[in-house]
Amino acid sequence: MATTRSSCGTLRVEDIGQAVTCYGWVDHRRDHGGLVFIDLRDFSGLIQLVINPSEARDAYEAIKDARLEWVLRVDGTVRARGEGQENPRLATGQVELQVTAVTVLSAARTPPFSVHDDAEVDERVRLSYRYLDLRRPRIQKNLRARSEFVAGLRAAMHKMGFVEIETPTLIRATPEGARDYLVPSRLSHGDFYALPQSPQLYKQLCMVGGLDRYFQIARCWRDEDLRADRQPEFTQLDLEMSFVDEDDVFAACEYALGHAWEAACFRGGKLPSAFPRISWEDAQRRYGTDKPDTRFGMELVDLTSVFGKSSFRIFQQAVASAGSIVAICLEGGGTLTRSEIERELAPVAVAGGATGLAFITRRQTGWEGPIAKFLAPSELAKVEQMTGARAGDLVLIAAGNSASTRAGMGALRIYLGRTRSLFDPGQMDILWVTEFPMFEKDPATGEIRAAHHPFTMIQEEDIDYLESDPLRVRSRSYDIVLNGRETASGSIRITDPALQGRVFSALGIPPEEAARKFGFLLDAFSFGAPPHGGCAPGIDRLVMEGLGEENIRDVIAFPKNQQAQEPMTGAPAAVSESQLAELGLALLPRRGQKG
Ligand code: AMO
Repeated sequence: MATTRSSCGTLRVEDIGQAVTCYGWVDHRRDHGGLVFIDLRDFSGLIQLVINPSEARDAYEAIKDARLEWVLRVDGTVRARGEGQENPRLATGQVELQVTAVTVLSAARTPPFSVHDDAEVDERVRLSYRYLDLRRPRIQKNLRARSEFVAGLRAAMHKMGFVEIETPTLIRATPEGARDYLVPSRLSHGDFYALPQSPQLYKQLCMVGGLDRYFQIARCWRDEDLRADRQPEFTQLDLEMSFVDEDDVFAACEYALGHAWEAACFRGGKLPSAFPRISWEDAQRRYGTDKPDTRFGMELVDLTSVFGKSSFRIFQQAVASAGSIVAICLEGGGTLTRSEIERELAPVAVAGGATGLAFITRRQTGWEGPIAKFLAPSELAKVEQMTGARAGDLVLIAAGNSASTRAGMGALRIYLGRTRSLFDPGQMDILWVTEFPMFEKDPATGEIRAAHHPFTMIQEEDIDYLESDPLRVRSRSYDIVLNGRETASGSIRITDPALQGRVFSALGIPPEEAARKFGFLLDAFSFGAPPHGGCAPGIDRLVMEGLGEENIRDVIAFPKNQQAQEPMTGAPAAVSESQLAELGLALLPRRGQKG
């Protein structure tokens, strides 16, 4: 009988009687009543093999010693499972393969962890044997969904007329705010390429080059401290468009992400066809963050105006020093004890930036709490009206520097939202945050730096403040925030060399340095530059959210660990003296080693 090649997980009742050949790994083995049962696994699923030594002696001899993760080729006939032997949890659970011949293609050592399930395993071990980890169901599912997502993005971009362009990865450093990965030049000793933190300047030059709409599934490298949603190398859907404004860029991103989201069946649902928008200023005012999670309310309430003449000293001082008094009202929070508030909630607000946390509780009979007696009845009445507090609710209040107090209360809001289950974690929340400030103060040095990057266009009405009050200047930049996580950034760009020069000056980059580092860009803009803008959604973070994963490493085939190392290959690693010499490099003693 002619045999057909079949994947393990696709055999069904309709195939009964077929002679098939399957390839796969031994997922499970049972010896029972003289018969051998093996679950054979490949990318598509499992099929149960039955090897009967009295019918297939050679096959039995071949797999007699087969253990987990051995690789087999099996020939056999599909048949119905015996009455009561069906497995409804398995897609192939109605059938089994009666084996006629087996070839052992590869024996396997005992794996360091169980491959056939997703049981908890130390991540160090998983990453050291990543090729085994990749065989496990969860990572298989994640990487396949990621592939669908990227295919969806690509298809959508082509459909919208974007041109896919590869830009170089050995480049001159561009300022995206992180540390560069450097590559020494063999031919020009002492000079270094940088790996791109993003293809930012090349995509802008593609616009000057008349390509009109560019995109790339772009690899980016940034040498920064790692977090659960940050890797030293990651992937963006990088795009840029000519003759556009914000609405055009938003529409392109919404179409591409929506299309890909559906293609990957993320969270079984659809993204809204247009994402809601909120300005940076409103996001800060209402949520105390530029990454608002709007799956639940409990917005910040500004009580500064209520306590202008308060006899409560801390509030009075905050108002006198141009600070803010900010509250959130936790519905039903009146059941929390003073010690719970002080031990659990106050540290969250303080870690987020607040200097402390006061509270008052609304009871049927009036307000209670350690500070209630210091507040005038008229003040309490206003608090009640502005926060909407009702009997049984808790009003948490912080006072001090406006920005850090808001940040602290924003952090507390998120903490309460998550720990008090104020929203359904399966729910999706996606929005645009717009009009970020153009500049921000580096908290460590106090120097002014670009909040997005220096090529971002400024809001027309703020251009005059560029020299006199740069921190008040708003830019034409935007982020996509998904469930409280930044997942994309972009902006309309500057194309006027004179304005670009003023931005460099505001950043403390003198004209000679600007000419040396970015002369090519300023030159390009002097040859007829179309107005343009773009965006870069981070693919790893989108896939993470789409799959509900907490860690970016679980959606990347070969990620780096927290120390930016790859335990499997041992990268980064020392190189030979001769390689260093060829590159004109000599090493200082390793950190912590005496010279
Ligand atoms: P930005 O630096 O904001 O903008 O990056 C855009 C998006 O890339 C993702 N991302 C990361 N993902 C994983 N690990 C990282 N270390 C990491 N860093 C960034 C995020 C982020 O929102 N050139 C500009 C875009 C533009 O202006 O068009 C840029 O790269 O999802």
